[in-house]
Amino acid sequence: MTVRTVHFSRGIPPLEAIPSAAIAEHTSAILAAEPDRVFQYAPIGHHTGDQELREQLGKFHSVDPERVFVTNGSLQALDLLAAHLLRDAVRPRVLVEAPTYDRAVQIFERHGAQVSGVPLRHDGIDVDALRERLRAEVPAFVYVIPDFQNPSGVTTSEDKRRELVRLSAEYGFTILEDIPYRELRFGGTAPTPLGELAEAVDGARVLTIGSLSKVLSPGLRVGYVTGPADTPRALAALAEGTYLSPAPLLQAVAARTLANGLVRENVDRVRELLRPRHDAAVEAVRQTLGEVQLCVPEGGYYISVHLPVRTDEASFLTAARDDGLALTRGSAFYPADSAPPTGTVFLRLPFQALDSAEFVEGVQRLAAAAERAA
Ligand SMILES: Cc1ncc(COP(=O)(O)O)c(C=O)c1O
Repeated sequence: MTVRTVHFSRGIPPLEAIPSAAIAEHTSAILAAEPDRVFQYAPIGHHTGDQELREQLGKFHSVDPERVFVTNGSLQALDLLAAHLLRDAVRPRVLVEAPTYDRAVQIFERHGAQVSGVPLRHDGIDVDALRERLRAEVPAFVYVIPDFQNPSGVTTSEDKRRELVRLSAEYGFTILEDIPYRELRFGGTAPTPLGELAEAVDGARVLTIGSLSKVLSPGLRVGYVTGPADTPRALAALAEGTYLSPAPLLQAVAARTLANGLVRENVDRVRELLRPRHDAAVEAVRQTLGEVQLCVPEGGYYISVHLPVRTDEASFLTAARDDGLALTRGSAFYPADSAPPTGTVFLRLPFQALDSAEFVEGVQRLAAAAERAA
C-alpha cells in the first residue's frame, strides 16, 4: 500500500485563500477602462510605483504615500535594499535572527554580506546577545521578521521591539522589518510595528517590507518598502537602472483590490480559514511531540520545533521521507555561523495548507520517526 505523503514543506497560500475570481473581475474592469495606460511603460524619472497603489498602500499602513516604494514581490524589496544598504561596504556584516528566512540570507550573501545569526527566543531576538554583538561591531543592518516569523512562528514582544528601536538609534544601524504575515493574527493583541515605534525615537532607522502575497495573491508579485522618503528615491534609481518598474497592469489590479476593500475582506476570510488549522496544529504538536515547539504562534503559517534526535539531520530526513513525510531541511534556516541546539533537529511545520486530520497524521509520523531516531 502506498502511503500518501504529508507535506510539511512550502509556505505558500492554499488556493482557497486566494480570491482568484474576484481578482479576475477587477482585472477585466481595468482592461476595459484603461488598456492604453496599463499596456504602456510606466512613467520614468524616479518612478516609485503606481500612484494609486502607493496611495492605497499608504492608507493600509497609515503612512504617507511618498514613503512607499513598490516592488515585484517582497523578495525584490530585499534584493534592492541589500544593494542599497551594502553598496559601499567592504565585507559588510548583517545580523539576522537564527533561525530566519533562508532566501533572505541568500540574497544578502549575494550582495557580499557576511550574515551572522543572533539566537531567536520564544518572544523575539535575544536582545542581550544582540547588544553584545553591537558592542563588538555595528552591522550594515539587522533583519527581523517580527510577526509570526518564517520559519519559527515567533512574534517579537512589544518590549523587545522598543529595545530594538532604541538600539538602532544608540548604535546607528538600520533595521529591516519584514512583515508579510502581520495581518494574519488569530488571537492576542498585535504589538506595534517597528517602523511606527521608530518615528518616536530620534536617530532610529527602520525600513519596513510588506507584501500582498499572503493577504491577496502571490502571483501578482506586489511587494513594497515603506520608510523615510529618501529610501523610495534611492530604490527608484536602482530600479530604473535594471527593470524600470513593476508591471503596470498588476499594480493597477492591486490598487483596485485595495480600494474596493477586497484585500481587507480577504484578510478576514483567510483568518477564519486558517484559525482552525492553527488551533489543531498547536494542539497536535503539544499532545504528540511534547513541549518542543519554539513558541505558540498567534498567527501566520508556521509552528516549529527543536526535536530531540540521536541521528544527524540528513539521516533523519531520509527516514522521515520513507515514512511519508516531506520536510524542509531545518538547518537551512540557520545562517552559516549558527545551528539548532545540539541533539536536536529544527523543523518548520507549515499548517496553512493542511486540514486538521492531515496535520495530526503528519505529527504522528514525525513522533514515530523521532522515537526510532532517539
Ligand atoms: C519572511 C518572508 N519574506 C518574504 C517572502 C517573499 O514574499 P513575496 O511573495 O512577497 O516575494 C516570504 C515568502 O514566503 C517570507 O516568508
